[in-house]
Amino acid sequence: MHHPDNDASVNPSGNESIRDVLDRVDPSRRRFMQGALGTAMLTAFGGSALVGAVQEALAAPAPVGGIGFASIPASLAPVADLVSVPPGYSVSILSAWGDPTGAPGGVQLDPNLPQTEANQLKQDGMHHDGMHFFPFPAVGAGGVSNVRGLLCCNHEYTDEGILHHETVAGPMTIAKARASQAAHGISVKELRKIGGSWIVQRPSAFGRRVTANTPMKVSGAAAGSDLLKSKKFNITPEGSIPTGTLTDGLTAYGTVNNCAHGYTPWGTYLTCEENWNGYFANPTGDVTGVEGLDRKFEILSGQSRYGITTTGFGYRWHEVDARWNADTNPNEPNLFGWVVEIDPFNPNSMPVKRTALGRFKHEGAWTVVGADNTVSIYMGDDERNEYIYKFVCAKKYNPRNRAANRDLLDTGTLYVAKFNADLTGQWIPLVWGQNGLTPANGFADQADVLVHTRQAADRVGATMMDRPEWIAAHPTTREVYITLTNNNRRGSNPPSSNTPDGNFSAGSRRPPLDAANPRPINIYGHILRWRETGGNVASTTFEWDIFVECGDRLDVTPSQRGNINGADFGAPDGLWFDKDGRLWIQTDQQGDALGDWVNIGSNTMLCADPATREIRRFLTSPPNCEVTGVVTTPDGKTMFVNIQHPGEDWAGNFTQKSAWPDNGTNGPTTLSGAGAVKPRAATLVITRDDGGVVGANGLEIR
Ligand code: FEO
Ligand code: CA
Ligand code: CA
Repeated sequence: MHHPDNDASVNPSGNESIRDVLDRVDPSRRRFMQGALGTAMLTAFGGSALVGAVQEALAAPAPVGGIGFASIPASLAPVADLVSVPPGYSVSILSAWGDPTGAPGGVQLDPNLPQTEANQLKQDGMHHDGMHFFPFPAVGAGGVSNVRGLLCCNHEYTDEGILHHETVAGPMTIAKARASQAAHGISVKELRKIGGSWIVQRPSAFGRRVTANTPMKVSGAAAGSDLLKSKKFNITPEGSIPTGTLTDGLTAYGTVNNCAHGYTPWGTYLTCEENWNGYFANPTGDVTGVEGLDRKFEILSGQSRYGITTTGFGYRWHEVDARWNADTNPNEPNLFGWVVEIDPFNPNSMPVKRTALGRFKHEGAWTVVGADNTVSIYMGDDERNEYIYKFVCAKKYNPRNRAANRDLLDTGTLYVAKFNADLTGQWIPLVWGQNGLTPANGFADQADVLVHTRQAADRVGATMMDRPEWIAAHPTTREVYITLTNNNRRGSNPPSSNTPDGNFSAGSRRPPLDAANPRPINIYGHILRWRETGGNVASTTFEWDIFVECGDRLDVTPSQRGNINGADFGAPDGLWFDKDGRLWIQTDQQGDALGDWVNIGSNTMLCADPATREIRRFLTSPPNCEVTGVVTTPDGKTMFVNIQHPGEDWAGNFTQKSAWPDNGTNGPTTLSGAGAVKPRAATLVITRDDGGVVGANGLEIR
């Protein structure tokens, strides 16, 4: 299984897309929506800037406490099978795939056996990704604990061979699908620092897994829509039994491909559904139960726009679990692609799919609270040529009443970004009845706009970006940064753009260069930033610039050399501001440090000073992994970082590329002594040996 969010390998089999099937079989089915409004209409919009009395958002200053370490060397090929950090820092392993979450009755992974659903449901899932640490309340400074809290962690996808203990894929079974579904989703674990070491509290009432089968509520403007009524199954370990009825549009089952994340100031976790399309397959390229060619075409066109193919990414769930068959169950994909809110402090709470935040391949959802407690959520859609979004809550955050914020994410306005060549930009509202989002253009109501967010953004002329990944906002200025990881089609021929009718297959266009995406065949990516007008998180206009063009300064192609002041890197993905204003950058590139990466080395985590733009390398990783997910305790003295998919793309034996972390190169694991049988994604604990703030100069900052 290749990493599904890398465009270079998203569809290694060369599967036919639904679009290919449509184009091949019956052109007469095609009905193109007749659009009256062009992109010129958009320029009439966006003039309504909210210039408030709030102080102008400022460019981020130098971090308090500076950056207190020197760059470590890149880990060049052949990549060492360990995590390295600067002198004076220590790394240990907190928890890896298959380690118990602390839920009562959990057992440790046996790496010599196929995974089972029952065991997996009480263990860390596979492929740790975005995460957040929710401290417990505590008496004293700040009112929060630095030694006890809940770690919520995304488990983005699976390595099916390692999961099923198969070096050669065997027949598909429902048991394998159920184990795989249970390895997806999120984990909640209670962490404690005892005697100077961090542990997972076992057992703990907070230990929890949310998986691809967990019952969920659906809320927001699309809730209850016919588009979200899907075939209802009784989901059992033996199979999904059709009930003969439809769901009510207010319920859903499961979350998948939880990539990055977010959290709210009211203490909930936001998990985001990224490459969910790959779990579905439409083997026929048809929707056989749907009446009418026009309706069929609308549905298949929608599946194509979101990247559903005839075989999916190879998970094969649809072969044994009809819920994932996009032909016979065409509304089920509409229940994926959302932001899901989870209350980690209530283990019995039902996760909620917040439809008001739109449906796309959500990388993450980053909350920024304005000076007046207005809440905005910034979000990227991670695919070539997709868009950047913002949701502004209609109601303000109430810091004194947690319950009052419970449904804040259900009402508000979803916007999509347009970047102008003069370094200004607009947030264009995706509101039914405005900007051509009308019945004449195929949008029946706001539910239709939200379920078809990509098509709505196509219609209003949003700017096609080079794969929007993580977003981070400066802790005091609220300046917002985003990683644009790469685009292997930007500036290539023949040029083509996303069209207002939303009628093309996902990621298929070849956009020309523009000011915000200025490099052809953008291998190394860039980091862009913006400042809202008036410092108002609800503003509909902003100013932007490019923070850094990543690259290899020895590259033979001048445009790929970048303009980094410091350590070379590329394919920026994870991004996070610490409390002092240091910007941490994580990469997701080809992990063997070959080809375009010979001078850059393995995946890495770096630290940037946003004022000087100096960038230093902090961490290097084992072979064939990515570095993703970073958070600290509130005092900044313990940092948690994830190493995802170490040793990916093995052949013949599981440890061909990596045996980390059970090889012991970063200290003991739960499977120490068992011999390193399989590489495992894991969460690292990183501390400074002198007890200081990670990244800073000196012992105490603030
Ligand atoms: Fe799952 Fe966009 O990285
Ligand atoms: Ca990512
Ligand atoms: Ca990634």
